[in-house]
Amino acid sequence: MSIIKSAEDYVRKNLDKEVIEHTLRVRNYALKLAEEEGGDKEVVELAALLHDIGYMKGFRDHARSGVPIARDFLNKQGYDVMKAGKIINCIIKHDAKENPQTAEEKIIWDSDCLDRLGALGIIRIGPKFVKHDICKPEEVAEKLKAMFEAHAAKLHTETAKRFSKEFTGFQQKFFKELDKQLNIIDNNFDFFYKVKEV
Ligand SMILES: [Fe+2]
Ligand SMILES: [Fe+2]
Repeated sequence: MSIIKSAEDYVRKNLDKEVIEHTLRVRNYALKLAEEEGGDKEVVELAALLHDIGYMKGFRDHARSGVPIARDFLNKQGYDVMKAGKIINCIIKHDAKENPQTAEEKIIWDSDCLDRLGALGIIRIGPKFVKHDICKPEEVAEKLKAMFEAHAAKLHTETAKRFSKEFTGFQQKFFKELDKQLNIIDNNFDFFYKVKEV
């Protein structure tokens, strides 16, 4: 079995459905970015697959907690030590507060970020704001707008910046329409409160 297939199986076996789906989308973005930005494609793909493996230990500090898990997995596969080191650095540097340096690190950071933008960002992140009491339902749209702008401004690669422009256009239209509809229905935010019941 190829190392890529083994990594994908490992992720599917050990992570929750939501994180698996996010991971597979990050892999798709990462491969697209690698085509234009360069970098070692195998390192990029494995780093994308393993970047959130720390979720096995919970969300908090998952970039760091994923390091020993990924290292152990790659060691057991007999994977090249130099390349494994590059993958580990991608995992550490995917934390939003980190500053990625190499092409591979930038691609993983940007791919992870792209999955928080656009239509998917709205349906993935909006409900989480309410569910985890980060803001009130009536503040979700403003909070999302601010988050999208902040994240898009931090992208590192030209290819990801180009993708994010398409997302931004969509988001602007979405929020404009949302404002219009919320006014029509007298600012009824019940649909966001329903998230709390899930
Ligand atoms: Fe992450
Ligand atoms: Fe992620």
